[in-house]
Amino acid sequence: MFVTELESALDGRKFPADELQTTHKDRPLWVRYDLEKIASAVTKDDLLNRPADIWRWRELLPVPKNARIITLNERTTRLIKTESLQKQIGHKNIWIKDESTLPTGSFKSRGMSMAITMAAHFGVKRIALPTAGNAGGAAAAYAQQADIKCLVFMPEDTPAANQYETISYGASAFLVNGLIDDCSKIVGLAKEKLNCFDLSTLKEPYRIEGKKTMGLELAQQFDWKLPDVILYPTGGGTGLIGMWKAFKELRELGWLKSDIMPRMVAVQSDGCCPIVNAFKNGERFAKPFQNAKTIAWGIRVPAAIGDFMILDALKESNGTAVAVDEEMIDDWTVMTSEKTGLSICPETAACVGALENLKNQNWIHADDRVLIFNTASGQKYKDTVKVELPKININKEINWEIIEASL
Ligand SMILES: Cc1ncc(COP(=O)(O)O)c(C=O)c1O
Repeated sequence: MFVTELESALDGRKFPADELQTTHKDRPLWVRYDLEKIASAVTKDDLLNRPADIWRWRELLPVPKNARIITLNERTTRLIKTESLQKQIGHKNIWIKDESTLPTGSFKSRGMSMAITMAAHFGVKRIALPTAGNAGGAAAAYAQQADIKCLVFMPEDTPAANQYETISYGASAFLVNGLIDDCSKIVGLAKEKLNCFDLSTLKEPYRIEGKKTMGLELAQQFDWKLPDVILYPTGGGTGLIGMWKAFKELRELGWLKSDIMPRMVAVQSDGCCPIVNAFKNGERFAKPFQNAKTIAWGIRVPAAIGDFMILDALKESNGTAVAVDEEMIDDWTVMTSEKTGLSICPETAACVGALENLKNQNWIHADDRVLIFNTASGQKYKDTVKVELPKININKEINWEIIEASL
């Protein structure tokens, strides 16, 4: 264990790492490591001789040696590059890192495996969290493995698949006639009334560390020369914040072969874009977005407590923030699934739209290596993305002309 302390992201105040911590002034904490000690204890080649999963990075993770790891086998996810998507967008070097193959079908398993391992280690018996969908399912599955009771609050229009998975993994789940921030308020009450530990995004320090493994894997998969641009669908921002932390730690360890860091792009829908608005206005803290609406449920987050951490990462990386046309997300989802053969979620589709925009604006250059995350399996959204199949009536003559015309 190489953790030295926890540190307030807001004002740098230090907290001990050997007890359960939450936030400071309602803002997140960083986990800090003795990177010099890590560099002399292991080499990156040592790590690569281990099984290809998130636990191969254990020196860079917060889990104490004696802790029971709560895992569902979080394997390294694949990188896909398809000629047909590249042709469609008119850009070579587009990779998709497909997180849909992780346990519970989304990247949320990375953060939940870590957070629930740590919660169990510190003796937590009950957790509560709000969810836009995928976090609820992942928390439910990992909590069950840790014998922790799990209470989930989700907006009432959350995709049916997310509702189903959350209860099928054994959590108690409730639909709320509001958005994720209303669910968060209920979690705040559950904390007091039912003695639940608050596992909301960034309200405990360890989900970021789990998400950090996306960045660690990327570095290794790109032979330690990171991609030039990373497009990330940004809701609460743990993924973007975690990845940027991973890159900085790898740089400090001296493991990267190139000093060029990726330009990080936070992608949102114009139906909910608080981070994009703050970025455009040069603000470090985002104003809550009113009347948030998007079918990319994971990024329907009107206010994020890690807003300044996301915005700092965009600035430090010379990145940007893009709001795409909500009306186009359906089309990009179907197009990208077709062109990649992957089950693309609408959040990822928004990133494909952002790539088109940034390319047209020449913000992305012809030789930039671009990486997009497919953060969840598109199959979970079958009741969200509109596809309508023509029908055949077996009591009538089949119209082969129509069928042929569809080819
Ligand atoms: C599929 C999907 N993509 C992206 C996000 C946003 O993730 P983050 O909280 O890391 O910004 C979520 C969060 O719920 C999600 O479910």
